[in-house]
Amino acid sequence: MIKTLEWTDEGVRFIDQTKLPTEETYVTCKTYEEVADAIRTMIVRGAPAIGVAAAMGVALGVRNSQARDNASLKREFAQICDVLAGTRPTAVNLFWGIRRMQQKFDEISDQPIETIKKVLVAEAQQVLVEDIAANQAMGKHGAVLLPSTGGVLTHCNAGALATAGYGTALGVIRAAVESGKQLQVFADETRPFLQGSRLTAWELMKDGIPTTVISDNMAGAMMRQGKINAVIVGADRIAANGDVANKIGTYTVAVLAKEHGIPFYVAAPFSTVDLETADGSLIPIEQRSAVELTHFSGKQITPDGVKIENPAFDVTPHQYVSAIITERGVVRAPYAESLRELAQAQVTV
Ligand code: MRU
Repeated sequence: MIKTLEWTDEGVRFIDQTKLPTEETYVTCKTYEEVADAIRTMIVRGAPAIGVAAAMGVALGVRNSQARDNASLKREFAQICDVLAGTRPTAVNLFWGIRRMQQKFDEISDQPIETIKKVLVAEAQQVLVEDIAANQAMGKHGAVLLPSTGGVLTHCNAGALATAGYGTALGVIRAAVESGKQLQVFADETRPFLQGSRLTAWELMKDGIPTTVISDNMAGAMMRQGKINAVIVGADRIAANGDVANKIGTYTVAVLAKEHGIPFYVAAPFSTVDLETADGSLIPIEQRSAVELTHFSGKQITPDGVKIENPAFDVTPHQYVSAIITERGVVRAPYAESLRELAQAQVTV
């Protein structure tokens, strides 16, 4: 199994996603600041993986603390959380992971410092275990929605690399294939960071799942030719009304799917659902460096001085979403109600 990230005695170890698919190298972050840099520079990326990384970053910061009394540790804790929270704004899992550690810290903040350190390290490791379990549950819930044979289009990478393991959208595809379905995955290359061609193709090929990389602008033509029977993507944040923020280009795919009568599914752990954000227009969208568009493999591909826009995510309005698959079950429109009900659901994972 691909180890996207793991806790080690030395620090948090990440597969370096900026080097894939040609180099499989690992980076160990020994401080929480290094974890924050790994998130910012996309050594680790994908909403659930960022959430686990943030929880581990908090644990690492606390474990390394030299604080001699609980009041100093509390001040340091707030500083650690602030730095990690400032890395990337869109994936709500980042804030979820930090909040989870904050809650655990608050519960035990008057205990001996050594105990706090141990409990927080164990909590971060638990977050990782739960993420994998959630993905496997999503796989079970979602696999039945995919056709028994045919083409499935995905955008970006919502796989093992975007989570602690198994994946959300790719987890559903994996579960469907494990159940005997014969699927051909079409991976949008996902300009400009190429998560589809570099990462999705890499991990699906490792599993022997038939995969074809297409350029982002081919999706419509493929649908028209009848090669795509379903679309499944992950999410960075799902607003209370079911609007979905995901990798830039997802909205275009959703509109195309609707036009061609193809179901458009979103798979995400419940930690991606943000009931405090009423609709997609309120989701902060990360703007990334212009260099991702002005240069390709270090070579300049745009004229000097041209204006560039590079939002990392877009919002797909809920009316384009056929169903949302979570570890708690599958929900459909009206999402404002079904997501609220899901929030009350008994958690079995
Ligand atoms: O910029 P990235 O690579 O972190 O964006 C990732 C995505 O948009 C994924 O589709 C999303 O996080 C879901 S991952 C299970």
